[in-house]
Amino acid sequence: MTLPRHIAIIMDGNGRWATQKGLSRSEGHLAGAKTVEVLIKECLRHKIPHLSLYAFSTENWNRPQEEVDYLFELFCQFIKSELPLMLQEGIRFSMIGEKSKLPPSAQTALEHAISETKKGNNLELILAINYSGTQEILHAVRQSVSEILLQKEQKAYIQNLINDKKSSEDILSYLTSLFDDIHYTEQNLRNNLYLPDLPDPDFIIRTSGELRLSNFYLLQAAYSEFYFTDTLWPDFSARDFEKALLAYQNRKRRFGKIDEQLDQ
Ligand code: IPE
Ligand code: IPE
Ligand code: MG
Repeated sequence: MTLPRHIAIIMDGNGRWATQKGLSRSEGHLAGAKTVEVLIKECLRHKIPHLSLYAFSTENWNRPQEEVDYLFELFCQFIKSELPLMLQEGIRFSMIGEKSKLPPSAQTALEHAISETKKGNNLELILAINYSGTQEILHAVRQSVSEILLQKEQKAYIQNLINDKKSSEDILSYLTSLFDDIHYTEQNLRNNLYLPDLPDPDFIIRTSGELRLSNFYLLQAAYSEFYFTDTLWPDFSARDFEKALLAYQNRKRRFGKIDEQLDQ
């Protein structure tokens, strides 16, 4: 039975878990971090090559300052405390999201873990922090378009058009023709995603009963299989993960084909 190559998890329900137990939201997040450790070990055991964890969305900045501060403290602590395990188990740590907007201590911790673990080749662990699928697409569009416009010959030509005081319609029609000439494709866009070499998630799990993506991997989820469970993230166990994997193995991924074509 095929296992997913890339599993992405929307770890949701820490707050509700804490509230149900009369604890603070911070205690919920701390309990959630323990579940992350369990999941990492399970992915190593199953030899899953890529695991993405949605830890903080760009929309999460709208939470109370105290909660945001606690979360970043927790991320830093977690990355530091997991580093020995990452090195020992051959985990390559990476991140997606806008790193430059993070608190400096978090940037340092992330960069340190990324560089220390770059040789790991058993499991790639991707933390989505300050991540938004919409922002990632926007970033990729901007980058790929500027790549085209910044090509030397084009730059000189555009400058000449401007110097010759051509109309804006002329300039626009020239720019449009550039995209025809270079056959701008999906690949140009994909080459500028945060991690261009990362395969799309085969399987996206969301805990806590919410049935939405909340801006996670919008482009990459085009053909992902989804799994939703009511279990809150701190309660999500190795057994729950097994159950999810089993569900994945019973899915039929057609990618637009018909059943008779699938075994060919
Ligand atoms: C997910 O749990 C963790 C983060 C978004 C950082 P929540 O904090 O969203 O938990 P609920 O949804 O309030 O229960
Ligand atoms: C999604 O959870 C983001 C993370 C798990 C980090 P949220 O709890 O922020 O999502 P919404 O706001 O309920 O959609
Ligand atoms: Mg939530």
